[in-house]
Amino acid sequence: MVLRVKERLLFLGFVIAFCLSQSGMGQPLEAEKALGSQTCMTSGCHGGAGPGRGAYTIWKQYDPHFDAAATLTNGRSRAMARQLGLDNAAEAQSCTVCHSPLRQIAPSELPAPPEGHKRDSGVSCASCHGPADQWLLSHTRPDYPQAALARLGMRQLATSYQRANNCVACHQNLSNELVEARHPPLVFELDGLMVAEPKHWREEEGFSHVKSWLVGQAVALRETAAQASREPGPRRTAEIEAIRALLNATATGWNDSTQNLVRSADDFAKQISESPMSQEQSRAILLKLIRNRTPFQTDAFAQVAADYRLWSIGYYAERLTLAIDRLNQSLISSGQSGMFAEDFLNALFDAAKPPESFDAATTEAFVKQLDRLKMAALDLEKAR
Ligand code: HEC
Ligand code: HEC
Ligand code: HEC
Repeated sequence: MVLRVKERLLFLGFVIAFCLSQSGMGQPLEAEKALGSQTCMTSGCHGGAGPGRGAYTIWKQYDPHFDAAATLTNGRSRAMARQLGLDNAAEAQSCTVCHSPLRQIAPSELPAPPEGHKRDSGVSCASCHGPADQWLLSHTRPDYPQAALARLGMRQLATSYQRANNCVACHQNLSNELVEARHPPLVFELDGLMVAEPKHWREEEGFSHVKSWLVGQAVALRETAAQASREPGPRRTAEIEAIRALLNATATGWNDSTQNLVRSADDFAKQISESPMSQEQSRAILLKLIRNRTPFQTDAFAQVAADYRLWSIGYYAERLTLAIDRLNQSLISSGQSGMFAEDFLNALFDAAKPPESFDAATTEAFVKQLDRLKMAALDLEKAR
């Protein structure tokens, strides 16, 4: 094993002169496949300017992932580490798995960084694009087919489904232990994350934010349901039921009567990702979400333990608010006027209190803001 790694490193030493890429993901990396982002950074490769060529530069200067490892040394991380009985969050597998995947590999097993550079850390190229050892050379050839690169381990990220699968690995599931240690809650919402991510690529013509949002919600449901089968609990059930209620409210063909949630959420995500999504459909989804009051009725979320039903409402309110914001924004970015003024949306965000703090009064206040939006939407539809 050790020998294999050494041989590979020798080979790598020489490929680095070419242009390399690196490795990662929400799972521990295999040592022999890991290359640092420095392998991608030369100006002829991705360390230049412009789309594609500027990827390294943009990531290093603007991407929150670049600093994800440094977070593990801040005060909040130290407090979490104390509570979890960890010596050092920056070296603990329970943190580096998402914040710095390359740190899970012993330094002696990684190629040495070029002179003047520190060992790579954070969430870098390979965390999203896949370990590059097999495709590094081929991917510089313009005639090399994408499907062949995919077989060599280059992750495909063109569709909403492919992207969701990649990002969700680190952006939805926290273990109960981490939740109890007060890690910031993770609410996977793909479209907002993609918009916030400093882009080192250009989106294709006709890109649908609404599709990206909906696929993201289905994948969030899939992952939460999968996590619940490993670590069940009433809080997780409350969140699952909230996402189901949201998918139901969209009336986009989600089959809620299903026995196997993981499987059917995955099928639904794929199906939405592969189908076209028109502006009319997007508008219709937004209107349905604003009108739906089922989750706020007294008999809602009957599957959830009584003490946690208000949490479900809170989770629903949180995701609904993000949804309305994304869908409204998508109308604007497609050149139409949005449905709602900024201050209406701000008031909705204010009313979406943290799920665990939801009670009868917060529910009523939230529905009141939703009613305001409903009236505004009604006026607009009349005028259309
Ligand atoms: C290997 C794990 C990992 C993967 C994969 C990953 N992220 Fe992240 N992401 C993180 C971590 C950790 C942070 C927190 C960074 C910090 O320390 O502040 C983060 C933060 C972010 C932020 C800033 C915080 C926020 O919530 O707005 C955005 C935006 C983001 N990620 C987008 C994405 C997108 C889009 C994808 C998929 C294309 C993705 N991430 C894939 C781990 C990951
Ligand atoms: C499942 C992936 C995952 C794991 C495991 C994880 N984090 Fe995070 N962490 C994230 C993501 C994603 C964010 C960004 C959240 C956001 O802004 O939306 C984040 C944010 C944070 C933040 C707040 C950001 C800041 O700048 O202060 C801290 C602190 C933090 N993590 C520390 C830790 C520590 C310490 C551990 C281990 C005990 C850990 N995390 C484990 C994914 C993870
Ligand atoms: C948080 C996830 C993430 C990280 C980290 C990341 N990328 Fe990307 N990258 C993407 C996504 C998503 C796309 C869009 C892919 C698509 O639409 O086919 C992309 C596209 C690209 C493209 C194609 C650009 C184009 O014009 O189409 C290149 C080249 C690239 N990335 C290089 C890099 C390099 C080099 C690094 C590290 C310095 C890096 N990426 C880090 C997610 C990421």
